[in-house]
Parts: sequence; C-alpha cells; structure tokens
Amino acid sequence: MNAAPSTKTDTTLTPRARFLAAAQGERVDRPPVWLMRQAGRYLPEYQRLRAEHDFVTCCTTPKLSHEISLQPWRRFHMDGVIIFTDILMPLAAAGLDFAVTEKIGPTLAPAIRSAADVARLRTPNAARDFAYLAETLSMLRASVGEHAAVIGFCGAPWTIATYMVSGGKAADQHAVKQWLLESHDTRSALFAWLEAMLADYLVLQARAGADVLQIFDSWAGLLTATEFSDHAGAATARIIARVRQVLGTACPPIIMFVQKNGHLLREIFATRADVISLDSDTNFNIAREQIQEPYALQGNLASSILQQGPVEKIIDATNAMCAAGGLEGFIANLGHGVHKETPIAHVAAFVETVKNFTPHSSA
Ligand code: CP3
Repeated sequence: MNAAPSTKTDTTLTPRARFLAAAQGERVDRPPVWLMRQAGRYLPEYQRLRAEHDFVTCCTTPKLSHEISLQPWRRFHMDGVIIFTDILMPLAAAGLDFAVTEKIGPTLAPAIRSAADVARLRTPNAARDFAYLAETLSMLRASVGEHAAVIGFCGAPWTIATYMVSGGKAADQHAVKQWLLESHDTRSALFAWLEAMLADYLVLQARAGADVLQIFDSWAGLLTATEFSDHAGAATARIIARVRQVLGTACPPIIMFVQKNGHLLREIFATRADVISLDSDTNFNIAREQIQEPYALQGNLASSILQQGPVEKIIDATNAMCAAGGLEGFIANLGHGVHKETPIAHVAAFVETVKNFTPHSSA
C-alpha cells in the first residue's frame, strides 16, 4: 500500500495490537482474524443460554452478553471479540417494541410510515439507556486485555430504516428501497433521528472500551452507486464525521460493511471509514485498483464455503484469501456472517489457517 509503510512484524505483537495496526493500514506478521456473527446459533453453548433467556434479555444483561461475546473466543481465540447485541437493539430504548422470535426473526412495532411517526420516537439518552452496553464493553475490555481487540458496532441508517418501515425483516427489500427513496419527508426525518442517535451510540461504545467500531449497512448493496452516495453513504459519512469530531485522536478505527458491495467501493471509500469489508464476490486486487489510495480491507471467505466445507477446501480458500489480502492493511473475515448450520470444526479450521498463514502458505 503506502510507499513506506510502518512495519509491525515483531513476534511479540499482541492480538489487540495486530488488529489495530492492520485496521490502520500497517504491515503485520500475519492477518488478524475474526468472523462476523461469530457469537450465536452455531454454538451449542449459545443455544443453551438462549433456551433459558429471550434475545433482548441476553443483550441487556451485561453478565449474559459478556458471556455470549466470549463464547466463540474461548473456543477459537480470534484476534477480535465483538460485543453481543443486535443492530436493532438501540431502538428498544426509543420506545419501539423489539423482539427476536424463532422462525420469524426480528420484529419491531409500531412500523414507521410517516414523519409524524418519527416525531413520536423517543430520543435515547445514551448514558442512561445504553448503560448496559457500556458495562458489557468495559467488562469485555477487562476480560480480554491485550489478547483481543474489542469490537463495538451499530447498523447504518439505511439498513435500520428498512427494518423500521417494515416492522421487521422486509419481505421485499426492493419495495422497501423504492418506498424509502420516494418518501422524502419520512426518510429525511428518520435519517436525521438515526444519525444523531447512532453517533451517540458509537461514541459511548468507544468510551466504554471498544477498540474498533464496525458499521453494518447490510441492505445498502441494493442501491445504485448514485443512490448510495446520495442517501445511505451520506448518512453514514455524517455519523463517522461526528464520531471523529467528538472523540478526536481517541477515535477507534471504523470498519464499513455493506453486504453486496462490488459496485460501491468508491462510494464506501467516500464515507471515510478506515476499513472496507468486502463481500465474497469482490476481489482484493480489484478493490485496491479501484480505490488507489492506501486503504485497509476486510473479508471475504464465502460463508457458504465455511458452512459446507470440506475442511481441506476451507484451508485452501482461506490461504488464497490471505495471500490476496496480504500482510498490510488486511483483516481476515467472512464475506458476510456465519450461518447457523456451520460446523464448529469448520470455524476452527478457518481461524487456525489464518493464524498459521505466512506468505508461503499458498503455493
Ligand atoms: O457475534 C456477532 O457478530 C455479534 C452479534 C450480532 C447479531 N446481530 C446477533 C444476533 C450482529 C453483529 C448482528 C448484526 C445484525 N443484525 C445485522 C447486520 C449484519 C448482517 O448479518 O447483515 C442485521 C441485518 C441484523 C438483523 C437481525 N437480527 C437478523 C437478520 C437476525 C436473525 C434472524 C433469524 O432468525 O435468522 C437477528 C437476530 C439475531 N441477531 C440473532 C443473533 C445471534 C439470532 C437470535 C436468536 O434467535 O438467538
């Protein structure tokens, strides 16, 4: 990447330092590794806890969310531990009724259909309403020390809005996209409300111990490049600018994830996030050519390969991914989240392969 990158290849590099260096575009000894949705239903210990507690209780009880965040890490020792919550959880603090139900998925009520509906939303007081989150993050920071980076996150306004207007996961994302693009007044009121709330939410997470922040804009990949930069990207860029302004030099690196992003790389870059997470269809070299500036990337093993295996295929694909990602400004991950049917041995093979990677691993 840079002409004269700083190099951190010291064998004493801690997992936390390795993660932060890679997120800042520096050269490291091997890529840091974690997985989107690494906590959750593919783990029997998660299933056992969920049989006793509903989803919202798992998120709002620091003892439980701390435990669930650490479950995958105890097994696999990834370089990053993501806090266990959901992109829709902050909406519970705004007075919406949020639940996650087996077979139905997340639901939110009432649905937002007008600017008047937005005006009725309560603006959360971050310190009070997200105190549970701050407590979980500071517990995680203390538990993992230098052995992992703690990752905080939020959803981006576009993706959260698709759930708010649909009352849950939209049956037809194209119809929701069209509705949001056409409903100018509702959209601008809703985005303004979300931007202010999410900026406070990220600032709170950084102050409580998050070393890195990721913004999930899962559904923005349905937008054209122009639609993305006019709406989803512009809203995210304002949040990033606000968080940086408030935190100054203490602002953690910010990773930007869009589910289908091959056509949006320049527009995602324009949000000024520090790292772009690539989906499994996008090639690292193409991404680097398109951006043409020193830039950190994350990704992008296909979640379907991780699920289906076999282990030899996972090892080969992971080594190929690391060879393409390189040792400079690259964080190994999946293209999207872990599927719930994924065998534990497959996750172990993925993490181990990255940990053993050297530039000679893939012949
Ligand atoms: O380990 C981690 O990565 C942290 C946990 C995490 C969850 N949700 C927990 C969860 C993260 C990062 C999310 C983000 C999230 N939630 C996104 C963005 C990332 C993506 O996948 O695109 C989105 C779009 C959501 C909305 C949402 N919440 C969905 C699609 C679901 C799954 C619905 C289903 O039943 O399949 C949820 C619920 C949810 N969030 C679960 C978990 C572990 C399942 C809850 C359960 O039944 O136990």
